[in-house]
Amino acid sequence: MRSHLLNDTTAEQYRRSVTEGIERVAAKLAATDRPFTGVTVDALAPAIDAIDLDKPLRDTAAVLDELEDVYLRDAIYFHHPRYLAHLNCPVVIPAVLGEAILSAVNSSLDTWDQSAGGTLIERKLIDWTTARIGLGPAADGVFTSGGTQSNLQALLLAREESKTDSLAKLRIFASEVSHFSVKKSAKLLGLGQDSVVSIPVDHDKRMQTVALAHELERCKKDGLVPMAVVATAGTTDFGSIDPLPEIAELCEQFGAWMHVDAAYGCGLLASLKYRHRIDGIERADSVTVDYHKSFFQPVSSSAVLVRDASTLRHATYHAEYLNPRRMVQERIPNQVDKSLQTTRRFDALKLWVTLRTMGADGIGQLFDEVCDLAVEGWKLLAADPRFDVVVEPALSTLVFRYIPAAVTDPAEIDRANLYARKALFASGDAVVAGTKVGARHYLKFTLLNPETKAADIAAVLDLIAGHAEQYLGESLDRAS
Ligand SMILES: Cc1ncc(COP(=O)(O)O)c(C=O)c1O
Repeated sequence: MRSHLLNDTTAEQYRRSVTEGIERVAAKLAATDRPFTGVTVDALAPAIDAIDLDKPLRDTAAVLDELEDVYLRDAIYFHHPRYLAHLNCPVVIPAVLGEAILSAVNSSLDTWDQSAGGTLIERKLIDWTTARIGLGPAADGVFTSGGTQSNLQALLLAREESKTDSLAKLRIFASEVSHFSVKKSAKLLGLGQDSVVSIPVDHDKRMQTVALAHELERCKKDGLVPMAVVATAGTTDFGSIDPLPEIAELCEQFGAWMHVDAAYGCGLLASLKYRHRIDGIERADSVTVDYHKSFFQPVSSSAVLVRDASTLRHATYHAEYLNPRRMVQERIPNQVDKSLQTTRRFDALKLWVTLRTMGADGIGQLFDEVCDLAVEGWKLLAADPRFDVVVEPALSTLVFRYIPAAVTDPAEIDRANLYARKALFASGDAVVAGTKVGARHYLKFTLLNPETKAADIAAVLDLIAGHAEQYLGESLDRAS
């Protein structure tokens, strides 16, 4: 069994074994002609159920053969140009190289004595990101597992900085289309059920600042504390960007912490063409960025950044075995002092290898391409009488709905769209997402693949129309 331990004596086996795995994945990627096979839970589950984990196969080739059957064959492939569903980007090769290195060396970024150079690399990337945002000389931050954790940590800092005598008085303001992790964070932070005040959005799905001002006034008048405003720079469903400068003004006026959830919109930090769309982000007290959404990084890769490094102390606990207080005086950089996690992956390495290989402009160019593609897609949808499209994209998302000429019942149109999404998924020809706009069901493309072309969008729209028509035809048959 010792032969499986990765060490000085097994370097050759490591090379062989990992290369075998890489060969399989490379062959799979090259041969994948659809984003999904359309496999059902019922079809796949028995194969996984039948595996006896107490009876190992021993041989790498046999393990990889089995993996082909239970995972690789039916995985959802985000690199395929017709994967258009959620906020999953195709990944860049330098980042995958970083991933391979970080898991083999297996540094843990909690303390200097478990990571050494890794700590400094992470710190430099944090500084790089805060400089791109423009947070100023006192800024800092830390890598996290994702936007959910970044939002939670930011709101934890905001709660602690609010210095209130009663958690029940704290209020967080976020638009009605902000990410659900804001509400989840409020719950985890012990705030009441009514602590998140939902602010309506305008026609472009951006927070209405007049309504925000009104709610902030009301909060003060009621003797409550405006703990934080969460502005979203790239909403999950629409890619809309809240008016950051106006929100910054209001935060200043009402003494509220300004958090910008740029989990999606952070790609604009590297953009060559559209950086101005997130102007105002530099006024935030904290910012969430998800490199695994718009920097073409593998999951996980995210960070929370703060204007004032000292606020990170709210996440600091000292343990004799790990990061005793004296290490602060000794100026030993222990990232655990800033993090909600203890043992933590060296995800920063992926971004490091990416930037050192491609440069920030390389990433920005790819993100610009998907933003441009979204505009093309929007034009296609706007010109097509079969579809209703919701907003012109500020990033790379399109929300639309098939509207058959002959049907007026909105509930029947809902069912046709829901059916089309399901049927498309079952076919494996493309994967699209769905959401609700008001009471109605819509479909969604999240365009994050520069390899997706306008022709792919047009073809998938035809497929959607075809499935919806089929549903409506069968529905008529059922009724007659
Ligand atoms: C705007 C926004 N914030 C936060 C999140 C949560 O990020 P994660 O899935 O990395 O936890 C998402 C996820 O889609 C998001 O779109």
